[in-house]
Amino acid sequence: MKYGIYFLLVCIVFSSCTNQSKTASNAYDKKIDSLLSIMTLEEKLGQLNLPTAGQFTTGQAESSDIAKKIEKGLVGGLFNIKTVKSIREMQQIAVEKSRLKIPLLFGMDVIHGYESVFPIPLGLSCSWDMELIEKTARVAAQEASADGINWTFSPMVDLSRDARWGRISEGSGEDTYLGSEIAKAMVRGYQGDDLSANNTILSCVKHYALYGASEAGRDYNTTDMSRHRMYNEYFPPYKAAVDAGVGSVMASFNEIDGIPATANKWLLTDVLRDEWGFNGFIVSDYTGVSEMIDHGYGDLQSVSAHALAAGLDMDMVSEGLLTTLAQSLKEGKITEAQINAACRRILKAKFDLGLFDDPYRYCDEERAKTEIFTTENRAFARSVAAQSFVLLKNQNNVLPLQKKGTIAVVGPLADAATNMTGTWSVAARFSESVTVLEGLKKAVGENAKVVYAKGSNLHDDPAIEERGTMFGKSLNRDPRSANAIREEAVRIARSADVIVAAVGEGAEMSGEASSRVNIDIPQTQRDLLKALLETGKPVVLVLFTGRPLTLKWENENIPAILNVWFGGSEAGDAIADVLFGDVNPSGKLTTTFPQHVGQLPMYYSQKNTGRPLADGQWFQKFRSNYLDVSNDPVYPFGYGLSYTEFQYGELKLDKTEMPMSGSLTVSVEVTNTGSREGAEVVQLYIRDLVGSVTRPVKELKGFQKITLKPDESKTVSFTFTEKELSFYRADLTFGAEPGKFHVFVGGNSRDAKQAEFELK
Ligand code: BGC
Repeated sequence: MKYGIYFLLVCIVFSSCTNQSKTASNAYDKKIDSLLSIMTLEEKLGQLNLPTAGQFTTGQAESSDIAKKIEKGLVGGLFNIKTVKSIREMQQIAVEKSRLKIPLLFGMDVIHGYESVFPIPLGLSCSWDMELIEKTARVAAQEASADGINWTFSPMVDLSRDARWGRISEGSGEDTYLGSEIAKAMVRGYQGDDLSANNTILSCVKHYALYGASEAGRDYNTTDMSRHRMYNEYFPPYKAAVDAGVGSVMASFNEIDGIPATANKWLLTDVLRDEWGFNGFIVSDYTGVSEMIDHGYGDLQSVSAHALAAGLDMDMVSEGLLTTLAQSLKEGKITEAQINAACRRILKAKFDLGLFDDPYRYCDEERAKTEIFTTENRAFARSVAAQSFVLLKNQNNVLPLQKKGTIAVVGPLADAATNMTGTWSVAARFSESVTVLEGLKKAVGENAKVVYAKGSNLHDDPAIEERGTMFGKSLNRDPRSANAIREEAVRIARSADVIVAAVGEGAEMSGEASSRVNIDIPQTQRDLLKALLETGKPVVLVLFTGRPLTLKWENENIPAILNVWFGGSEAGDAIADVLFGDVNPSGKLTTTFPQHVGQLPMYYSQKNTGRPLADGQWFQKFRSNYLDVSNDPVYPFGYGLSYTEFQYGELKLDKTEMPMSGSLTVSVEVTNTGSREGAEVVQLYIRDLVGSVTRPVKELKGFQKITLKPDESKTVSFTFTEKELSFYRADLTFGAEPGKFHVFVGGNSRDAKQAEFELK
């Protein structure tokens, strides 16, 4: 009888929810009010609960614990579950067996593509192409939604300047401005204009906040920085995602000001909601709630209460909110209003996604069959990959290669399908990725001979190799001695005209919990490179990496270096496209490549200090430098070569005095002086010479990617206003200050033309 009344009420609530195109905040308030009014406390806490579906397979669902919890209304969403069939099965339990029939969210780490995998985010950022990046998120959303997923834990926008940190691979590099532009593009790509469409998904910006500044580059470690630095440098990408309408935010693992982010009220409520106006929901990271016990912040009950009171809405995996908040409510530690607010935000996301209208909106078997890993998406992934590669060196135009003679393909990453997609590619079909060997063979066809040898294992230490190739990405360790493996490769290489050496990191040598203190190419692979150089044949280093590596020796000794990151499912074809010049490389680095790990953290937008080096010097006593290595990077931020060359003219300013509320335009003529068509990323930097807080020596404030035919010139103009010259002062007010500025335009952060103007 009682159930009958509830059922009627729920039907009334849901039947009035037909217009799913409404996404404005408050559009569903009344419906959510009615729903909240009939929910028990337990059911409300259930909405805040996000367990992992783990290794669920079809058929086990109903007998599992999670299925029982769903039936009791104790689950708000699930993640780590793949295929329409499995997802439909779970959704069915929620909407047919639970009392209130509230549909579930289905989340997944769709980080750089779904089954059609794009380059790792750090690589993708090197395209500097916002339309392209947005489209990768669009395609990822299309494929994921065709497979039942309605929520992705992406974009990851943690700024990082420390290549020791493995998760540097998951973000967009070191720069605030570029990182913010990419954050917006990704959110737009995932969410589109209408979240309730069946091919758009809810985005979750992460990890809020400052996770990329963990001390010593050690994952999950403490971060500590000034508010002024947070606001000027680390916060803007998260805020950009919020401004772009991101529907959810993930709290980070680290602490901030001594309080774990997961329960940091200043961070989650004062800044995110009150200052930035975020009105979606906040989810913890994986066991982020219970990890606060180890942080030394209390037992499960108290950390859960702190988290809710701070503004956290959903608990990933810990079940602290589900199991302890009722007691905390009884004890007066939290209020029912706080629980209602969290529950409301999660329900609102479900309304926005159109799940109340049709809980199976994303469960279309036909779409799953026809819209995933399609020829079209794979062709797109191939072209994206080629645009993420960065040509680091090309002495005597070793590249592009010709499709003739004999090409030796050597190295542990040369025939390594499972490693091509890199870290965080959970939905990928690892073994179906295109390898370098396959890509090159296909490209040359009958015109050239391709010979292959592995040449070395990934690492001399089998334990490190295993850690770097986890999750089904083993490189099938060769049991022979390093000498024997290498000698075989040298023998084969001697018979070739050119050697392509595919070396670097294994796919899991970067990513979560993959910090390194030594960021060289592993020694056994360096030994291979040395032996290959000794053959006297030209060597092309095709570098696989998820982070900046220390390439001082390689840069000094190897004639050509193409950094291909982890290019995704089509990597091998894309590598062939660039090596043979069918695509002219145009990627530019978004992180500084240091000479030595001891220089980290390292980034171009540093402060001048009171004791900078004099121009042209690399060591001066009592100046800010090192005894043993210069302050220079091997490759600076923004750097990347092309098979053609670009020349920059002098800068032209439309005025040298800019009024505070006016604007200024700087123009430069860029000419392709080489013999091929190519794309160039023209970069604009400024320096504010004097400020009430000191300003960086250079800050990126704009960029344009242009394509030029041989001998073609284009005038590139940037217009900026007071806003681009503004910054957060010591008291956190935001504004520009009058005085002199330098403006720089160039093809990287080091080599740029310079001019001066004054803000009046
Ligand atoms: C990671 C997140 C990820 C989550 C769910 C965590 O370990 O830090 O980035 O979204 O797991 O898989």
